[in-house]
Amino acid sequence: MLERDHIFIYGPPGSGKSYLGSRLAQILGLPFIDLDQEIEREAGVAISEIFSASGEGSFRRQESEQLKKVSQCGKDSVVALGGGTLLTEENQQLVESSGRVICLHADESTIVRNLDNHKNTRPLLAGDFHSKLRILLEQRAEHYNQFSHVDVRQRSEDQILNDLQIESHRFNIQGMGKPYAVRLQPGSLDRVGKILQDSGLRGPILIVSDRNIYPLYGRQVELRLQQAGFVSAAVVLEPGEKDKNLAAIQRIWDGCVSAGMERASTILALGGGVVSDLAGFAASSYMRGIAWVAYPTSLLAMVDASLGGKTGFDLPQGKNLIGAFYAPTKVLVDPNCLASLPISEVRNGMAEVLKHGIIADPSLVELCRSGRWHSNLVNLLPKAMAVKIKILCADPYEKGQRAVLNFGHTVGHAIELVSGFRLRHGEAVGLGMLAEAQISVQLGLAEPELPAEIALCLKQLGLPVSIPGALPIDAILAAMQKDKKIEGGRIKFALPQRVGRVDFGIEVEIELVRSVIMQLMG
Ligand SMILES: NC(=O)c1ccc[n+]([C@@H]2O[C@H](COP(=O)([O-])OP(=O)(O)OC[C@H]3O[C@@H](n4cnc5c(N)ncnc54)[C@H](O)[C@@H]3O)[C@@H](O)[C@H]2O)c1
Repeated sequence: MLERDHIFIYGPPGSGKSYLGSRLAQILGLPFIDLDQEIEREAGVAISEIFSASGEGSFRRQESEQLKKVSQCGKDSVVALGGGTLLTEENQQLVESSGRVICLHADESTIVRNLDNHKNTRPLLAGDFHSKLRILLEQRAEHYNQFSHVDVRQRSEDQILNDLQIESHRFNIQGMGKPYAVRLQPGSLDRVGKILQDSGLRGPILIVSDRNIYPLYGRQVELRLQQAGFVSAAVVLEPGEKDKNLAAIQRIWDGCVSAGMERASTILALGGGVVSDLAGFAASSYMRGIAWVAYPTSLLAMVDASLGGKTGFDLPQGKNLIGAFYAPTKVLVDPNCLASLPISEVRNGMAEVLKHGIIADPSLVELCRSGRWHSNLVNLLPKAMAVKIKILCADPYEKGQRAVLNFGHTVGHAIELVSGFRLRHGEAVGLGMLAEAQISVQLGLAEPELPAEIALCLKQLGLPVSIPGALPIDAILAAMQKDKKIEGGRIKFALPQRVGRVDFGIEVEIELVRSVIMQLMG
């Protein structure tokens, strides 16, 4: 893993590197550096003057010098490069060893619009602007194509910035407590001590994990924390939903007391969604609230449970009935942890990925349908995270739009509970999505093909498309009526219209729900 992790924005002149780079930095709460401006500041003259006085060769030497300084900057930053900065192998190696390069793909008309011919001051495009630009784009097409890219052609600023966050593998969630960074970085677990130290977090640190995960990663984390000078202790819980209860919370509180945790101490949740829900809730209530960091290890927790600050535990009467909105200080995602995740749990997480696709990203649905999802896990992770994060920033406390994330969960939670957690969360949510899509069709809201499309995706993911075993329908309906999403005794559903559009707050007659669930009984 890289010691420094800058985001380098690259692309042809006029593709928007400086403007989009500075907006991205603002969103991510990172410093912004414009390489051209740094060169001009250092030289004390405009780049056009360097070109006319000493030629392109002299400019390129100054550019390489400045790039070295910027790359070594101690704080991760967003850096807008010049349009030809990476033409030399030396510069390319330098940026690739100190961060991620994202190239903006722009065509001639986009660049012309951005640059506005009359105001163009770029030395390489001086004179016959249009033909020089065309030649430059042709000559450098292969060069620009080698970097991961974001398309800026005919797309809104909002869409481009969304894609830039996905490509940079970084997000910043705002609206609940202090904004917090979400960072996807293979191998970061091995640097956890340094990362927490750089974030200004304080010990003692209590690692909360479960019996499956702690032997795989817990000792490595403890060692790294100790190497960074932290005092640490661990509470290792029983894995799975059946122990997501008050007794587990009590164990974490006890662990906090034994470890000598103070108000400035930190809980590190190292595990799946059960661990992060429990650890987050314990952090929200211990000494009226201490810091917590989410280190999700399951796919489901990476794309869903660790994001958004919903924490809590189950009562025998219903899932997540007790809880608090309590945002973590940081969410660190190391996709290398997925290597040890059993395939059944990967499928489980894919149900939430599919849900996010149906809500807002058809490319995720396409990946599920095509069956290519398993070889694309690392690529689909930031996309699936981005869908939830965008919604969270708009509605952190579920006053409205966040309710779309409940798609599949109203029926899903009830089936999961009544199955005695024999059905995994993702399996139940998959069935819930199928039932709720069918309800939506019956209400005339959804396209009639939608349930079949969802069923096809679920089959490709190896998830059930009918409710296995004989679950009592009345118990499922009763469980739904104890759900948190109930309002004034009425169940409100989030229902899909089509891939890419889910509406929320829709009341449904219980008899319709009954008949749809009955059709799904295996
Ligand atoms: N707070 C939220 O916004 C939110 C959202 C969605 C789901 N959830 C909650 O999340 C829970 C489901 O999460 P989950 O599916 O991660 O369940 P989980 O935490 O029970 O993990 C599933 C299983 O995988 C194992 N595991 C996890 N990571 C592993 C790894 N890297 N290697 C090997 N084994 C590993 C765990 O030990 C467990 O046995 C539910 O309780 C659900 O209510 C919360």
